[in-house]
Amino acid sequence: MDTLRHLNPLDRLLDSAQNALSTVLGAPRAERPNPGLGEPDVVLDESERRHAAGLMRINHVGEVCAQALYIGQAAVAREPATRAHLLEAAQEETDHLAWCADRLRELDSRPSLFNPLWYAGSWAIGAAAGLRGDGWNLGFVVETERQVEAHLEEHLQTLPPADARSRAILSVMKDDEARHADNALAAGARVLPWPIPTVMAAMSTVMKTVAYRI
Ligand SMILES: [Fe+2]
Ligand SMILES: [Fe+2]
Repeated sequence: MDTLRHLNPLDRLLDSAQNALSTVLGAPRAERPNPGLGEPDVVLDESERRHAAGLMRINHVGEVCAQALYIGQAAVAREPATRAHLLEAAQEETDHLAWCADRLRELDSRPSLFNPLWYAGSWAIGAAAGLRGDGWNLGFVVETERQVEAHLEEHLQTLPPADARSRAILSVMKDDEARHADNALAAGARVLPWPIPTVMAAMSTVMKTVAYRI
């Protein structure tokens, strides 16, 4: 805790820069095994493969955004407990990021070319939310995680039926996101006022539309 309390603004900025580089350019390493590996790697036909890759690219971008949001929020969090909470959630998002990247490779595809932009935009939004105070910070986590949970459910319904590997990854992610939201609520999240949740949903629709293809 003490080391957290003594982090100065430069340390926080360097933390963010390091995370940005490893998220966007590096190959983040998961701490937990990829849940998809327990499922058979069925060869999909070309249109199924492209559809599955589009969905997994959206999920990969979602995890890039989650990393950036939490790191941006942590950079300005006031209480060490809030900061620790955000960094802990970011660690599980790293697992999700690595699993989605693995699956994209298996599907013979690639992450979004706009990942540096998605990261920068989300970091700025996270920092702006965090500057309003820790209750807002945690409220932002709850809203983000609930929206991600809903869209993962939608992807679970629309993935090609044969794509058991992607499905296994998304199921574990969905459970993790629900837990992230519950933990943030328990830690004292504020309910975000209208129109913030609506604006967040609109932005994620834009992201999903672009990331499906590019
Ligand atoms: Fe995630
Ligand atoms: Fe999450």
